[in-house]
Amino acid sequence: MKKSITFTDNRNGKSVEFPILEPSLGADVVDIRTLYKEMGIFTYDPGFSATASCSSDITFIDGGKGELLYRGYPIEELAENSNYLDVCYLILNGELPQKNSYDKMNDYIKSEYLLHEGLKNLFNAFQDNAHPMATLTSTVAALSSFHFEHLDIDNEAEYREMAYKIVAKIPTIAAYSYRHSHGLPLIYPDMDRYFTKNFLYMMRAKPNGKANIDDVEMRALDTIFSLHADHEQNASTSTVRAVASTGAHPYAAISAGIGALWGRAHGGANESVISQLEMIGDVKNVEKFIKKAKDPNDSFRLMGFGHRVYKNFDPRAKVLKKLRDELKGKVEIDDKISKIADRVEEIALSDDYFIKRNLYPNIDFYSGTILTALQIPKDMFTPIFVIGRTIGWIAQWIELKKDREAKIARPRQLYTGKKRRHIK
Ligand code: SDX
Repeated sequence: MKKSITFTDNRNGKSVEFPILEPSLGADVVDIRTLYKEMGIFTYDPGFSATASCSSDITFIDGGKGELLYRGYPIEELAENSNYLDVCYLILNGELPQKNSYDKMNDYIKSEYLLHEGLKNLFNAFQDNAHPMATLTSTVAALSSFHFEHLDIDNEAEYREMAYKIVAKIPTIAAYSYRHSHGLPLIYPDMDRYFTKNFLYMMRAKPNGKANIDDVEMRALDTIFSLHADHEQNASTSTVRAVASTGAHPYAAISAGIGALWGRAHGGANESVISQLEMIGDVKNVEKFIKKAKDPNDSFRLMGFGHRVYKNFDPRAKVLKKLRDELKGKVEIDDKISKIADRVEEIALSDDYFIKRNLYPNIDFYSGTILTALQIPKDMFTPIFVIGRTIGWIAQWIELKKDREAKIARPRQLYTGKKRRHIK
């Protein structure tokens, strides 16, 4: 029997049946595309917490179980067995790469690390204390003035090339943004180095090309990139899809996604977590701040806690906590900050206010402690999130381009303003 849901309007007794669409995993979806035409009404769902904006094969999240799958593979297994470029290939193409396809992708990405020389001049326009996210957002948008060949791409072969091109260039722009904001000379990418090693090289190298990067650090950052790679229809991905739905240039869509990610309720939380832990300053102050976070009249929120979808531990936070503990003794982990973070988690997880609201640590709660240990400054935490997430944004952009049911994003509203009136 075809599954459906009937809406009955008790103002006029009219009933209309709407079909249920069945997923391969997760919640069923009621297809209400004809609701307004059939019943003359809209749905009301600020923040879209109960709204499926598209169909997608890329990422699945079970918020109740705390499960995250990229193309069906659990994030824990990918963090353990694959590097970030494996994950990029998987998210973009749907399968993990064989050696030859990995090598082909890796070689192409290395060949695209460099930016157009003209883009470098853009950095001189920014104040030297500009936040790297401001520089990154603007420079990615400027890419569309250097790579207009992607303006109206309509063939798949180009999609892949465009995807790898932007994945390759974002770390260079992020590293340039960092060096510019710290008054350091820009370091050209090293096309012989693996993606993550090259990023650390551009962040750390002296003008003579000397850079001290050990494999433990490189693998830790590579795992962080993988954990951030995609996360279904989060705020920044929905932004990228909305911009892409108008037919805008992919780099303009990515730049819009970066802007959305910058918010402290979203990707900007990783920087706020460390600032907050530093502000708490000592384990003995934790209870005072937990009290503030619970106070409905206080806008203070526990950064790195809570999630729109996860009502259990964010599986990425679990991987990061394990990674942080594995790194102890190998890199300089700030013990004081770690102890404050552990105490926050311990108190929050046993407090009724957080339990009742299913507030658990999310990906941002532990990432900052590890990034600090990798000598990455706080204002670069969200650019690191951008580097990891770019492949997800691009893969979702391509999926939308290929989706025959996709339309321009144009929600309606509940109008509560003035009724028609006249000046005279
Ligand atoms: C990311 O969507 C994604 O997938 C995002 C992301 C990705 O990979 O793309 O996972 C990355 O953005 C992770 C989230 C990072 N943000 C933070 O850590 C900021 C702190 N968290 C909160 O701002 C909040 O939890 C959100 C924004 C993450 C989720 O907010 P929701 O789902 O809109 O929940 P809500 O604001 O409606 O809160 C429900 C209740 C409220 O209390 P009541 O009104 O019921 O009394 O929980 C409370 C909130 O006040 N609450 C918190 C809290 N988060 C929610 N109270 C204290 N501290 C918090 N952190």
